[in-house]
Parts: sequence; structure tokens; C-alpha cells
Amino acid sequence: MKLVFATNNKHKLQEVRDILGSGVEVLSLSDIGCNDDIPETADTLQGNALIKARHIYSKYNVNCFADDTGLEVEALEGAPGVLSARYAGDGHDSEANMHKLLQNLTGKSNRNAQFRTVIALIIDGEEMLFDGIVKGHITEEKMGEAGFGYDPIFVPEGYSESFAQMSSDEKNSISHRYRATKKLNDYLKGDL
Ligand code: IMP
Repeated sequence: MKLVFATNNKHKLQEVRDILGSGVEVLSLSDIGCNDDIPETADTLQGNALIKARHIYSKYNVNCFADDTGLEVEALEGAPGVLSARYAGDGHDSEANMHKLLQNLTGKSNRNAQFRTVIALIIDGEEMLFDGIVKGHITEEKMGEAGFGYDPIFVPEGYSESFAQMSSDEKNSISHRYRATKKLNDYLKGDL
């Protein structure tokens, strides 16, 4: 089976290919010659994942999937959520995003948060959604250097290390993206 993943992020492609295994050929946007900057204008993760998948399906007529991820913080009513990449402005600046989040949580005792990934799959025009959640909390300050995005300030439930203090294998075995991709895999293999 061939599926286009609406991304050019090499790290995500590798992670997804590892989980889906050799039975699914995962193509990137550049593999199909797509250079479109698909606008993510929805106000939910599901909405944005669907916008991207529908764009690819209708323009290229190929079976495909797209993902969208957000960090949802309880004390901030789910913010930054769908705006996670641009929380501190359009610069997609992780340092600025983390700084803003830590500022907005100053003095708050509830630091519960979760990462959530939504994957939208379209096969022969049929749409399916899968989500993956990892619960945890936001630290008082940055811990660790590895990873990306909000990793230095997120500690998953049951752990004392932040995502940025874990090896990529360890993070990838419990992450939101891993969990959503596992559901996609189970569905494709007929187990869901
Ligand atoms: P995307 O939908 O995968 O592009 O994720 C949107 C934003 O969420 C990213 O720009 C990051 O700020 C944040 N994010 C997504 N996944 C992770 C992760 O695994 N660790 C830390 N931050 C993440």
C-alpha cells in the first residue's frame, strides 16, 4: 500500500515509516512534487489535519494522511493548543514559546498538560481520525537539551525527566505522535 504523508519533516517521516513497517510505502510531499504551503486555518487540531489531508487528496488524488499536534495546558484552558507553533508569534521560535508559557503559568499550582496529535487519513475518499495523547506536567524551568519545541519543559506522567532529557528512542516509545501513529497502523492492518 502507498500513502502520502503531508509533510517534508524527515524526522517525522522516519518515525512513521518505522512504525508502519515495510507493508506501507510512505511518500513525502516532495516525493509527489508538492511544494504548496497549505494554510492551517482551522481552530482545532482535527480541523488542520483534515485541511492538509483534503488538500492533498483532492489535488493529487492519492490516499494520504496528515497530522497536527498541540500542547494543551489545563490551567490555560487548553492553550497553546492548535497555536503551539506560533504561541509567541509567527516566528515559530521555541525559546520564545516556552518563555511565554512559563510566564503565563507563573504562580499557578496546576501545571497539568498534555501533548495531543491528531492524524487525518483519507483512503478512497473515506476520512478517518486517530489521536494520541501523552499526559504530564509543565516544569518550573527548562530541563535538558535534546528534542525540539516544548520538550525541555514537559515531563510525561510517571517520569521525572523532561522529554528533552530522554533519548529519542525513549521519547518516541511513549509520545503522542507514536500513539496516534500506532492507531493508524492498527487500522491499516485491520486490527482496529
Ligand atoms: P506539528 O503539528 O507537529 O508541527 O507541531 C506543532 C507544534 O507543537 C510544534 O511547532 C512544537 O512547538 C509543538 N510540538 C509538537 N510535537 C512536539 C514534541 O514532540 N515535543 C515538543 N513540542 C512539540
